[in-house]
Amino acid sequence: MNAPILVTGGTGTIGRHVVPLLRAAGHPVRVLSRRGGGPGDDITHVTADLLTGADLEPAVRGVSTVLHLAGGAKGDDRATANLVGAARRAGVTHLTHISVTGADRVPLAWTRSKLDAERAVVDSGIPWTVLRATQVHDLVLSMLAAMTRLPVVPVPGGLRLQPVDAAEVAARLAELTLGEPAGLVPDLAGPETYGIGELLTGYLAASGKRRARLPVRIPGRAGRAYREGANLARPGAATGVRTWAAFLAERAPSRPVA
Ligand SMILES: NC(=O)c1ccc[n+]([C@@H]2O[C@H](COP(=O)([O-])OP(=O)(O)OC[C@H]3O[C@@H](n4cnc5c(N)ncnc54)[C@H](OP(=O)(O)O)[C@@H]3O)[C@@H](O)[C@H]2O)c1
Repeated sequence: MNAPILVTGGTGTIGRHVVPLLRAAGHPVRVLSRRGGGPGDDITHVTADLLTGADLEPAVRGVSTVLHLAGGAKGDDRATANLVGAARRAGVTHLTHISVTGADRVPLAWTRSKLDAERAVVDSGIPWTVLRATQVHDLVLSMLAAMTRLPVVPVPGGLRLQPVDAAEVAARLAELTLGEPAGLVPDLAGPETYGIGELLTGYLAASGKRRARLPVRIPGRAGRAYREGANLARPGAATGVRTWAAFLAERAPSRPVA
């Protein structure tokens, strides 16, 4: 029997798409998260907390390939350093990691933590692969849903996004995980770039809501970076196929987008 591939965060938005692909390629999969999940055919769930390191050593034991997706709002640098330490001790020979487009260019605490997480992987001594991706459609949808809970929606001027399909990110991650360690590979971004106002218009139309808008300016260096498109993929990035409009037409809460 093959050694299992450990997928941290395999119960998350992207992880849920990757796990079946690794299984379909014939590999047993061990999924690591804090809350666990229901087992499947040759899928086992282990619970561990990457932020504290609790229960991490046994979770990594007997594994040679790790796909690291677990992440949260804070502490991805620490979580990744903990994983890297345990993976090194377990003799892991390929560590694939997802990061975010612009991790090296947007000056926010969150992006700095993503960049430090990348550095932990790069400096681990374990052969590695890192893919940076833009925001997945599901995340953009939840962001717009949260924004429109307010009667007046603040709309940051100059903010653009390049939403990409979670299943396409997952397919690329599966390919990279099953391949040879490749270092920092070209980013994966969505096929189109939209202003935040445009995304909001589409979302409101699709959900049948009406909202007043309040233009706001993101302050400081981070605001400048966003207005300059530091969160968007550079030329040469790979682009997905499924558009935001196609995703929204299927997923929007009430009526589809025309
Ligand atoms: N979503 C995007 O648009 C996007 C774009 C680019 C990069 N990324 C990166 O891709 C990764 C996955 O994103 P996602 O959207 O799939 O995330 P998600 O839906 O929020 O899922 C996060 C996963 O990580 C697990 N997790 C979180 N904290 C953990 C901890 N301390 N210890 C162990 N497991 C933990 C969660 O399970 P439990 O809660 O049960 O622990 C869950 O399985 C993240 O690193 C994210 O920064 C995401």
